[in-house]
Amino acid sequence: MLQIEDVSKTYPGARPVLQGVSLHLDAGETLALTGESGSGKSTLLHLAGALDGFDSGEITLAGTRLSGLDDSGRAALRRGCVALVFQQFNLIPSLTVAQNLSFHARLAGRQDPAWIRDLTDRLGLGELGARYPEQLSGGQQQRVAIGRALAARPALLLADEPTGNLDETASDAVMDLMLELVRVSGTALFLVTHSERIAARLDRRAHLSGGRIA
Ligand SMILES: Nc1ncnc2c1ncn2[C@@H]1O[C@H](COP(=O)(O)OP(=O)(O)OP(=O)(O)O)[C@@H](O)[C@H]1O
Ligand SMILES: [Mg+2]
Repeated sequence: MLQIEDVSKTYPGARPVLQGVSLHLDAGETLALTGESGSGKSTLLHLAGALDGFDSGEITLAGTRLSGLDDSGRAALRRGCVALVFQQFNLIPSLTVAQNLSFHARLAGRQDPAWIRDLTDRLGLGELGARYPEQLSGGQQQRVAIGRALAARPALLLADEPTGNLDETASDAVMDLMLELVRVSGTALFLVTHSERIAARLDRRAHLSGGRIA
């Protein structure tokens, strides 16, 4: 699903962030990435999701080599197979819960009403479809963001500290749902977290330190 080989990345005018990173993720597998603040976790996640370019090495996503793609080629590949969830929930404030949930699937032309109904029920959002994001708790907003990400059945879900803004109870509930949903949809999960407890729940883990996977 995802193959990262000897990838290096330096932002202009800064010290190198990634120096020869290699990682792989099989279809349907879950991988936790840990590392100190500033170690390059978000940078690596962005490269894996074809959101940004890299200096050397190769990343192969769903069989496509990213080094040869320009911005529009990367965007097309992302639309086809990747979804993202961030620490900030990034819901669209002017859309209801139900509209937010189906937004990306509609853009991608992959609406499956039965799957979206199933997702809504599993996420416990059935009663909240007509509400707006500002009328939800943090945990509820993140559940909508996860539902929105999975509505188009992506092959790969990239999650950057998705429970970083939640208390422990809400965080556990959101992680339970996310792990259950990637399992039923066969989606691979690449998750950045600071929590050892969360990392231990995934199939595999990797630790980023000094620009390399330790
Ligand atoms: N767009 C950018 N331009 C220049 N430097 C950047 C940019 N984005 C990140 N950096 C730098 O790259 C390094 C890695 O940043 P990154 O956001 O990947 O770290 P992180 O491991 O996700 O940290 P955190 O745990 O705090 O989120 C940091 O030193 C950061 O300042
Ligand atoms: Mg980060």
